Order: sequence, then structure tokens, then C-alpha cells
Amino acid sequence: MNERYSINEAAEIFGITTNKLRFYEKKGILKPKRDTINNYRYYTNDDLIRIQTILMYRVLGLPLDDIKNILDEVIKDNIIDHFYKQWEVINDEIHRLRLMRDSIEGIMDDIYDSKGENKLNKIMESAKRISQIRKIKASWKDRWDFDDWAKTYDISVKNDSGELKIYENYNDVLSTVYEEAIKGINIEKHNVRILDIGVGTGNLSEKFLVEGYDIVGIDQSRKMLNVAKQKFPNLKVRLGEFLNIPFDRNEFDIIVTTYAFHHLNDEEKELAIDEMMRVLKDNGRIIIGDMMFENSLEKSKLMKKLSKEQIDEINDEYYSDIEKLEAVFNKQGKQLDKYKIDMLNFVICVY
Ligand SMILES: C[S@@+](CC[C@H](N)C(=O)[O-])C[C@H]1O[C@@H](n2cnc3c(N)ncnc32)[C@H](O)[C@@H]1O
Repeated sequence: MNERYSINEAAEIFGITTNKLRFYEKKGILKPKRDTINNYRYYTNDDLIRIQTILMYRVLGLPLDDIKNILDEVIKDNIIDHFYKQWEVINDEIHRLRLMRDSIEGIMDDIYDSKGENKLNKIMESAKRISQIRKIKASWKDRWDFDDWAKTYDISVKNDSGELKIYENYNDVLSTVYEEAIKGINIEKHNVRILDIGVGTGNLSEKFLVEGYDIVGIDQSRKMLNVAKQKFPNLKVRLGEFLNIPFDRNEFDIIVTTYAFHHLNDEEKELAIDEMMRVLKDNGRIIIGDMMFENSLEKSKLMKKLSKEQIDEINDEYYSDIEKLEAVFNKQGKQLDKYKIDMLNFVICVY
């Protein structure tokens, strides 16, 4: 691969003028080397990555000084982390704009609907709701450090050393999710669009891949995605969260997720359901395999039988209440079936 590009070649690759490249150099954010014989500037592959990065952040309206700081940081990253960072920035921006667009649509609908009522109140309510949603989405943090866990995750599933033995029937949970996902599907395999949220090291996605389905996995942990990709090169992976799914409306026929939904509290789960419904096609289905209780009564009965250590383990996360989930899905016009795998593991099918 060509490692040296003249200023004209570099400018042509990105469709910009040579003056722009000289300008970035003057500002100190590009530092092309000089040929020892003719003293002409030349650009290396690393310089091209810098140019791509500068242009991307300029599109987002970032000042050059901020871009300089980002570039100094990313220089220390490996190449995939570098692009993951860009992906995150772009995706957050798309998400922010989408929320704004939805908010404006909501306000317009409210103005039409409110007839003689106080329009200002409707606008204020919409604006407050949007800002509340943005706050909840922004405040989700990975308290469990999945990046750190990525390399040893598969081993810890096998060893299942926790107090609750939640992985005892791991394969049953994954197989049931797979079976329920493809049950009665009458679209050709390669046309079925499937999303695995919280894909982790890719064990659920593997079940679809070996049967010839295309599947894309998202996860908030880059390191988990790296492990999944190493194990299954055919798996498409993207950085993304339950609360910020990096896809457009009505893209998927099937959404699956295992052992991931319990990292969201009830309020976050409701927003995650909105997000899943947004990217799901109208007659699509969602299959969730995870730790859950049937309802609050069953939860309190079960908690009485557990040790203090087991209760602490449950309280460190947010096991779902199936009845509550059903009510949220019903509001969205969906039905829910549940399958009990063991004391805590359920698979729910939403259709
Ligand atoms: C316990 S692992 C399960 C991995 C895999 N689904 C499986 O069944 O083995 C949980 C995974 O969910 C991801 N995760 C947790 N919260 C998430 C969120 N809000 N959005 C996306 N991924 C999330 C974690 O990064 C981790 O990879």
C-alpha cells in the first residue's frame, strides 16, 4: 500500500483543496513530513487518518482547537478504538437530532390536537419530556465494567461461580431464544434482519450464524465486541446501547437479547422498549432471555427462600418484573408469552 501521498493526492482522496491542508498545517493539527531531496510535503497513512478525523469533526461543527486535543488523544489509541470513538460521536449526534426532530413533530401534533386549549402548555410538556428522556439516557453507566470482563466472560459462564448459578441453564436460555425467534418465520433466511442487543462475546448470535442467518450484534462494550468479532468473523458488530440503538426506524424483523436487559432499571427499561419498538418492523418480534420474576408477589415469595449473599447479588442488578414488562408492551400493541427456564431465568416472546 502506498505510504506516501503528495499534497495533491491527499487533497484529491478527500475531495478538498490543497489550501485547506496547508491551513490545517498552519494551525498545527497536521504535520506532514518533507522529502529529504526536494523538500516537498508528503502525507503518510497516519496523516490520512488524521485528515479524515479532522474533516469528520468539522462536519459536526467542532472548533479546530478541540479537534487538536482529540487528535492528540486518539494518537494513543489503536485503529479500531479510534474509529469506535468517531462512531460514538456521530451516533450520539444522530440520536440528539432524532430526539429533536421527534420533539418538534410531537409539538406540531400537539398544536393540531389542542384546538382551543393552551398551546404553550402542550409545548412546555413536550419539551420537558424530551429533556427528561435525554437525562435518563445520558445517565446510564456501565457499573459492571464489561470491558474488563470481556476476555474471561466465556470462562466465567462455564465456571458459574456466583451465588445464584444463573448460568446453569445458559445454553437452554440461548437455544429457547433462538427457537422462539425463528418459529414460523416465512421470510428467506438471508432477508431476515436480526439484531442481538448486548451481544457480548457472541454466543447467542452464533446460533443464528451457524444456521445461515445474518445477524448484527450491538454492545456498549468495545472489548466485548472485539472478542465477539475474533470468535465469529461473519458477525457484524456495532457499538450501541439499549437506550441508543444505532439504527433507523423499522429495520429489524427480530430483536433478541440474553443476560443483558437486567442492567437497566425500570425507567430505563421503558425507554429501551421504546427504542426497540422504534427499530422493529411493525409485525416484528422481540425475544428476551434474562433473569426475571413473574410479578412482585412471586418475587417476595422467592426472596424469602434465598440467602443474604444471593439477595445481595439480585439487588446489584435489576431483574425484570414480567407483569410490568407485559403492561408496557401491551401499551405498544404487543402481546407477551413467557417460558420459565429455571428459578430466575425466563424467556419472553413479544409479538
Ligand atoms: C452478561 S453479558 C451477556 C452477553 C451475551 N448476550 C450472552 O448471553 O452471553 C451482558 C452484555 O450486555 C452488555 N450490556 C449491558 N448493558 C448494556 C446496555 N445498556 N446496552 C448495550 N449493551 C449492554 C454488556 O456490555 C455485556 O456485553
